[in-house]
Amino acid sequence: MSIPDLAVQQAALAMAEALSEGGLITVSTGAGMSRESGIPTFRGAEGVWRTFRAEDVATPQALYGDPALAWQFHDHLRQLVTAAKPHAGHCALAQLAGSLSPSVRLRIVTQNVDRLHEDAGSRDVIHLHGDIRRVVCTACDFQDDAYPVPAPACPPICTCGGLLRPDVVLFGEPLPSEAIAEAWRLAQECSAMIVVGTSANVQPAASLPFVALESGATVVEVNPGETPLSPYAHYTLRGGAATVLPSLLEALCHALSAH
Ligand code: APR
Repeated sequence: MSIPDLAVQQAALAMAEALSEGGLITVSTGAGMSRESGIPTFRGAEGVWRTFRAEDVATPQALYGDPALAWQFHDHLRQLVTAAKPHAGHCALAQLAGSLSPSVRLRIVTQNVDRLHEDAGSRDVIHLHGDIRRVVCTACDFQDDAYPVPAPACPPICTCGGLLRPDVVLFGEPLPSEAIAEAWRLAQECSAMIVVGTSANVQPAASLPFVALESGATVVEVNPGETPLSPYAHYTLRGGAATVLPSLLEALCHALSAH
């Protein structure tokens, strides 16, 4: 058994131990979760924020000040997202959730706006930062979950004359209050948390693992790189989500059935 395999086994055993009397597994995912599906991350060498400045394209001021530029940026992401398929890590999460004993539950909280967890079959996913595939009107209650990609105009305008926007949380905007309340509850109540592919830089999502740690949960980080969470997580598994998650969840499944 190689050292990485050993680390995966140890993390799975610790999680199963924490879940020995049943309980909740909360999985918190960020942009790195979708990297191997072809969607770039935001930070890091190949991150989106190396090409674009967030303040130019992803703030309310940018959207209303230069809607064509903001839409150019978002439509580029919308095209990548609609072309993307869930990878083995997304699928392993959905499969595990469907095969757990009734006393153990798994819930996913994501910062991603791509719906790949749902495409893989996960249900009740909490979206902290919205859904880029949904478009809403800034003036009336129009919304479309499957708005054409690419958008028919740049920027697209509603039949009411209002500016349309992707239903994502822009920098400086509040998060959907129900989503953040539910995410906080899932962090407080879980016995084990897996944190996948987030640089742990953006609040309030970055606080969720610390809420879980404070509540006594076993916290496992899956990320090829170091993050501010790494020194505090019980286990840090260095690798990509598409390879590490399936091994971790398979090992967890075995460990849970042995308990
Ligand atoms: N598997 C797992 N993790 C990966 C992979 C991979 N294949 N590739 C990269 N990563 C990790 C990186 O090491 C980094 O820690 O994913 C993380 C991506 O970090 P960010 O780009 O900062 O993404 P995220 O934390 O989700 O950003 C939060 O910031 O710009 C906003 O709204 C945007 O939702 C986003 C938020």
